[in-house]
Amino acid sequence: MKILITGGSGFVGKHLINKLKEDSENEIYALDIVDPQIKGVEYVNASILDYEAIKNVLKDLNIDIIYHLAAQISLPFSVENPLKDFELNVQGTVNVLEACREFKIKKIVFISTAAVYGIPTENPVSEDAPKRPSTPYGMSKLSAESYVQLYHKLYGLTYTILRFFNLYGPRGKGVVPIFVSRAMNKDSLTLVGSGDQIRDFLYVDDAVNALHMALKGLDNNDFNVGFGKETTIKQVAEEVNKQISVEISYKEQETKEDLYPIANIEKIKSKGFEPKINLEEGIKRIIEYGQASN
Ligand SMILES: NC(=O)c1ccc[n+]([C@@H]2O[C@H](COP(=O)([O-])OP(=O)(O)OC[C@H]3O[C@@H](n4cnc5c(N)ncnc54)[C@H](O)[C@@H]3O)[C@@H](O)[C@H]2O)c1
Repeated sequence: MKILITGGSGFVGKHLINKLKEDSENEIYALDIVDPQIKGVEYVNASILDYEAIKNVLKDLNIDIIYHLAAQISLPFSVENPLKDFELNVQGTVNVLEACREFKIKKIVFISTAAVYGIPTENPVSEDAPKRPSTPYGMSKLSAESYVQLYHKLYGLTYTILRFFNLYGPRGKGVVPIFVSRAMNKDSLTLVGSGDQIRDFLYVDDAVNALHMALKGLDNNDFNVGFGKETTIKQVAEEVNKQISVEISYKEQETKEDLYPIANIEKIKSKGFEPKINLEEGIKRIIEYGQASN
């Protein structure tokens, strides 16, 4: 299969490439503004903001499926820069969709986010819960989702939308790898307030398994993808401390955090998805990765 991954040089993209490479039948292209530097993958230097460049890339490739991962992913950045967030996440996605239409690409897998739900009224959230984004990032991803579904209705483009919650793993940017790296450097971990803020942490290999399922299935549907269980930031710190002894300190919480969405994953479980890597194992793997890279 000929597979193109936009954002293939990012955190999720690189893990996905490594999974897809396991099948030697797959021909993999990474479209990004940064080179992923992975052997056996063709790097295509183009921006999703440049439609002409995307066209030039796709015209001779005969791609079967696009995983569209390239995005602006920071919530605080989106609040400070709503125009830039809109440009990359909405305009960029429409450029990719338009290329799918022009070059008759069979399928797009679009990676969305729990941020489309905004502040949930109750947890866990299922796919039909109200989508009321509370950040430009959530809004731009929701608009992009709607465009994907519109391209299906108008032009018959097959799609899968996977809404990831809090992903973590080696090379990730969130609280879990940050805590691990601080512990490995013998720096203390700081909890805000009592550290009882909740997240739904999913290890990146489990997320990649869901992405892999979308290669040949999950057509024309949307799925929440998380571990399906809430974990507090304090539990993360305690788990890290169990594996690498580290000091845990507390700082005052200035404003109470809004409720964070936790995934109801029954829909994707009914298709065969099962998260396998719990927090203990996930942290162990990040530590091993950190030790191997030193
Ligand atoms: N990491 C998470 O916890 C998480 C959770 C939910 C959803 N997601 C979604 O998963 C996807 C991948 O996230 P990630 O964590 O790998 O992010 P990342 O920031 O590591 O990767 C994004 C990639 O997009 C590339 N990119 C940026 N601008 C581009 C442009 N103009 N043209 C082409 N490429 C461009 C970047 O160079 C980078 O390689 C995103 O769509 C994100 O919204 C991530």
